[in-house]
Amino acid sequence: MSYKIAPSILAADFTRLGEQISEAEAAGADWIHIDVMDGHFVPNISLGPGIVRAVRLCTGLPLDVHLMIEAPQRYLSQFAEAGANLITVHVETCPHLHRTVHQIKGLGCKAGVSLNPATPVEVLEEILPDVDLILVLGVDPGFGGQKYRPATTSKISRVRAMLDERGMPAVDVEVDGAVKAHNIVEIAGAGATALVAGSAIYNERSSVAANIAALRDQLQEIGSPRPQSEGVSTV
Ligand code: DX5
Ligand code: ZN
Repeated sequence: MSYKIAPSILAADFTRLGEQISEAEAAGADWIHIDVMDGHFVPNISLGPGIVRAVRLCTGLPLDVHLMIEAPQRYLSQFAEAGANLITVHVETCPHLHRTVHQIKGLGCKAGVSLNPATPVEVLEEILPDVDLILVLGVDPGFGGQKYRPATTSKISRVRAMLDERGMPAVDVEVDGAVKAHNIVEIAGAGATALVAGSAIYNERSSVAANIAALRDQLQEIGSPRPQSEGVSTV
């Protein structure tokens, strides 16, 4: 069992998206993270099911689709049919979160639930038994390249503690937003098992391979996450 690194293609060069995904896969990425933004829930518009379908043709890696959209239940089947393996919705967009999580599972996907920075972890209380992954945002979502909110680290620990209390070690805690080589040890040490990185992997300073290796090197310093009986790594 090792930490999962999930490059966010939001930061990739879209003029050669296929290549950028192959580079990440060859460099040992575990999942491909796809940020879907609607210009309503977050102030940016990004990618839709058509891109997920294209990415599906480029890689065998699990596709980790993060829906930052209002009323995500309207689009779940489109994303599942396009090839998503894991679909994450925001609690802030789902008045019927339990129903939405089970819709995702009914489509054959793993289900994730995400929290904005200002959303307290207590909202997870009732839904935890039903989820495969909790996604903690390290920034207010909408854009890549932002600054890490230091309060995120304690939030990750609190989510991991809630899972531990319930005997749920297999649930991944994924962190998204400003994950870099300089803070990945702090983030993983707090209990994250899946790390999303956009601008730390896709940038002009270095190659995708070197950037992924730099993240992996840091993670090696803290060893492996605690054993998990099963997780979305199997998707
Ligand atoms: C946050 C997005 C992130 C973003 C991360 O709005 O959900 O996935 O692409 O980008 P970096 O790693 O550059 O903060
Ligand atoms: Zn994301």
